Amino acid sequence: MAGPVADVGVFGGSGFYTFLEDARSVEVSTAWGAPSGPITIGRVPIGRAGLATSGDDHVSADDDVRVAFLPRHGPDHRHPPHRVNYRANVDAMRQLGVRALVSPFAAGSLRPEIKPGDFVVVDQFVDRTSGRADTFYDQFDEGPRHAPLAEPYDAKLRAILLDAAAAAGVTAHDGGTVVVTNGPRFSTRAESQWHRAAGWHVVNMTQYPEAALAREAGIPFAGIALVTDYDAGLDEAPEVEPVTQETVFRVFEANLDRVRELLLSAIPALARR
Ligand code: ADE
Repeated sequence: MAGPVADVGVFGGSGFYTFLEDARSVEVSTAWGAPSGPITIGRVPIGRAGLATSGDDHVSADDDVRVAFLPRHGPDHRHPPHRVNYRANVDAMRQLGVRALVSPFAAGSLRPEIKPGDFVVVDQFVDRTSGRADTFYDQFDEGPRHAPLAEPYDAKLRAILLDAAAAAGVTAHDGGTVVVTNGPRFSTRAESQWHRAAGWHVVNMTQYPEAALAREAGIPFAGIALVTDYDAGLDEAPEVEPVTQETVFRVFEANLDRVRELLLSAIPALARR
């Protein structure tokens, strides 16, 4: 591929990018196999985006941001979380040349104060998955490669997402730990209570190894949770039903406009990262 073709990458599906202009679909092949599907690349005109025209940050209309969208579960949601080819997805974004990678994801809340409909700009993850291909460094052919990961999420991208959430008028929690389960099943009540007692905030099935691979690929990465449920329930509120697949999809769909607005607001600043 000749030169960078996108500024910002987003792991998200078609519902996210109705604001793109000149959208086209590209197939990217990688040494790790096929990504989850074709990648949609389009331009976001700077003038349409909330944060773009503020103060010193003004960018001319010539500087439209090129954004690449890849639905991690595939165009028809055919890849379950434990079978997503995360290496191919991240490598495809690397090949496109993105300088910032944003990963919106559905999550269950483990705490009453983090409510369905809220966003969480996470700052840590805990990996409870197993058996996933989770590194680009399967062989130390060129010497040892141990990626530092004490801070898996990029501080500047996190700040941009929090500003964008404020601009979009949505509730976003600054920081939180996402525990990543293997899925595709949800947690038992005992597992969920354990996750909460350990001090973690939200639960999801895809942040690992996405975040770790982005670090190995050298791409600044941020994850933003959209809370869809209270996982297996809340001790404080016995009336809260345990999560079902229908709830996750329904609440995520119902909040698509807010996710889209937040992304649109963040994209110009993300491109300047
Ligand atoms: N994604 C959305 N809600 C979830 C939950 N409760 N557990 C795991 N992944 C989720």
